[in-house]
Amino acid sequence: MKIVIAIDGYSSCGKSTLAKQLAAKLGYKYVDTGAMYRAVTLYFLRFQIDLFHPEQIENALNQIQLTFEINASTNTQDILLNGENIENEIRVNPRVASMVSDVSAISDVRKFLVKQQKEMGAAKGIVMDGRDIGTVVFPDAELKLFVTADPLIRANRRLSELQEKGQNTTLEEVLANLEKRDHIDSTRADSPLKQADDAIVIDNSHLTREEQLEKVLQLVNQKLLSANL
Ligand code: DC
Repeated sequence: MKIVIAIDGYSSCGKSTLAKQLAAKLGYKYVDTGAMYRAVTLYFLRFQIDLFHPEQIENALNQIQLTFEINASTNTQDILLNGENIENEIRVNPRVASMVSDVSAISDVRKFLVKQQKEMGAAKGIVMDGRDIGTVVFPDAELKLFVTADPLIRANRRLSELQEKGQNTTLEEVLANLEKRDHIDSTRADSPLKQADDAIVIDNSHLTREEQLEKVLQLVNQKLLSANL
């Protein structure tokens, strides 16, 4: 028997890193739902979809097919938009970063993606990270984590990531984008980012990746033992 692990939290607080490590360690599937919202955003940007025009949005969503494929060099999943690998572009394109929170506040977009996410987790044995996983996508997940870290620490981590990918930006810009996204994500009407009542908070401001993984693996083992799985 396998469980569902739901990981939610603010932007750039290391949710994906943790989710990937956990999935690799447990032999579970990993799904990065942020990548799905970013992919839809990229499509909307490319086709200049008007976010205030529901019919345009509906037509666009009907044209979007999202799939994942294993990247042999990173051993994690890349996202494909209608067959095109857009993994790198959705991470480095600043227009995607600045528009994704507005796109993910649209109910039709959420319905479209949440349906696919629920299907992906139906067989359990999955680690999924995002903003509404423990509250909306898998309200019955056996283990829910709410990951957080100090905003300045998050901005510095994100800046290093972008610099490694050759992006030229500043700490101020990165911090402003994070704070703006956190604000939109936590105040939107549909599925705002919030801690599920039964989620366990992990503040990783002063934890190394290894320490964080260690702590969470203990939680997983407790869950497996208590559920006698
Ligand atoms: O995790 P990320 O930074 O790649 O997510 C990008 C955006 O997608 C984020 O600002 C909010 C949105 N998102 C969401 O609304 N719901 C999710 N389950 C995942 C991401």
